[in-house]
Amino acid sequence: MSFESKVVLVTGASSGLGRATADLLAKRGHRVYGTARRPAAGGDPGWTMLPLDVCSDASVAACVAALRAREGRIDGLVNNAGHAFVGAVEETSLEEAKAQLETNFFGALRMMLAVLPVMRAQNTGRIVNVSSLAGAAPFPFLGVYGASKHALEAISESLDYELIGTAIRVTILQPDGMRTSIGFHHPGTDHPILAAKRRQLLTRLEEGAHTSGNDPLIFAEEVARAIESDAPSLRTAIGDMAKGLIEARRTLPEAAFRRNVAERAQLLPSSGGA
Ligand SMILES: NC(=O)c1ccc[n+]([C@@H]2O[C@H](COP(=O)([O-])OP(=O)(O)OC[C@H]3O[C@@H](n4cnc5c(N)ncnc54)[C@H](OP(=O)(O)O)[C@@H]3O)[C@@H](O)[C@H]2O)c1
Repeated sequence: MSFESKVVLVTGASSGLGRATADLLAKRGHRVYGTARRPAAGGDPGWTMLPLDVCSDASVAACVAALRAREGRIDGLVNNAGHAFVGAVEETSLEEAKAQLETNFFGALRMMLAVLPVMRAQNTGRIVNVSSLAGAAPFPFLGVYGASKHALEAISESLDYELIGTAIRVTILQPDGMRTSIGFHHPGTDHPILAAKRRQLLTRLEEGAHTSGNDPLIFAEEVARAIESDAPSLRTAIGDMAKGLIEARRTLPEAAFRRNVAERAQLLPSSGGA
C-alpha cells in the first residue's frame, strides 16, 4: 500500500458514518470535501463542506464542478448519503419505494456518472459505495431498503468489471448496526397485521443504531483502506454481525438461514418454521 494525499468527496458528511469518515480521512492527510443538503455555518472540522442533494441533477453537477474548480481532480468518491425506510412490503406505497431508491440507489448512480469522466481522464480513482448488511441479505420489514442496497451492489460490481484495464476500482462496504442517528423513514399507512411487528423491529433498530451500534470509526477505517489501497477489495463486511450473517448466508442451507433471520426478527411462533 502506498500513501499519497488524495482528493476525496464524501457524500452525507453532516452526521454519522459520513462525518466520521471525513474526519478520519482529513486526519490521515487527505484533502476532503464532505457534503450536506444544508451545510451549517461555523466550526472548522479540518475539511470543506459543499452543498449537495444527491436527488438533484443540478445539485450533483454543481458540487462536482465546484470540486473540480478547486482541485482539478477527484481521487475518491464515497457514496454514503442515504436513509433507511422501515416498512413491510404490504404497507409500502410505490411513492415511498421510489423515494428510497431515489436517494440510496439513483443518488449514488448520479454521483458516479458525474465523477467517472473525471476519473477516466485521470485513469485512476476509487469509488466506495456504502451498502449494508441488508445489501447482502434481505430482511423482513427492510425490503425496500434492502432493494436499494442490492441494486447498489449490483451496479457497483458491474461497473468494477467495466473498469478493468484502468486504475479505477469500486468497493462495496456492508456495515451492520453502526452507532449513528440514521433517519428511519416509515410508511404513511399502517398495515393492520404487520405494523405492530414492524414497530417492534424499529425499536430494536433504533436502539442499535443510536446507542449500542458499532463505533463509526471502524467504518471510517475501512473507507480509508479502500481509498488508499493499490488493490482494494470489491466487498467488505463491517462488524461481527455482518461478517457472521454474510458467511452464514453463503454456507448454511437456505432453510436454516431463513429460520435464523425469522427468529432474529421474532417472526416465528416458538414451534414454527420459516
Ligand atoms: N447506521 C447504520 O447502522 C448503517 C448500517 C448500514 C448501512 N448504513 C448506511 O450508511 C450511510 C450513512 O448512514 P448514517 O447511519 O451515517 O446516517 P445519518 O447520520 O442519518 O447520515 C446520513 C447522511 O446522508 C445525508 N443525506 C440524506 N439524504 C440525502 C440527499 N438526498 N442528498 C445528500 N445527502 C443526503 C444526510 O445529510 P443531510 O440530511 O445533512 O443532507 C446525512 O449526512 C447510509 O447510506 C446508510 O444506509 C448505515
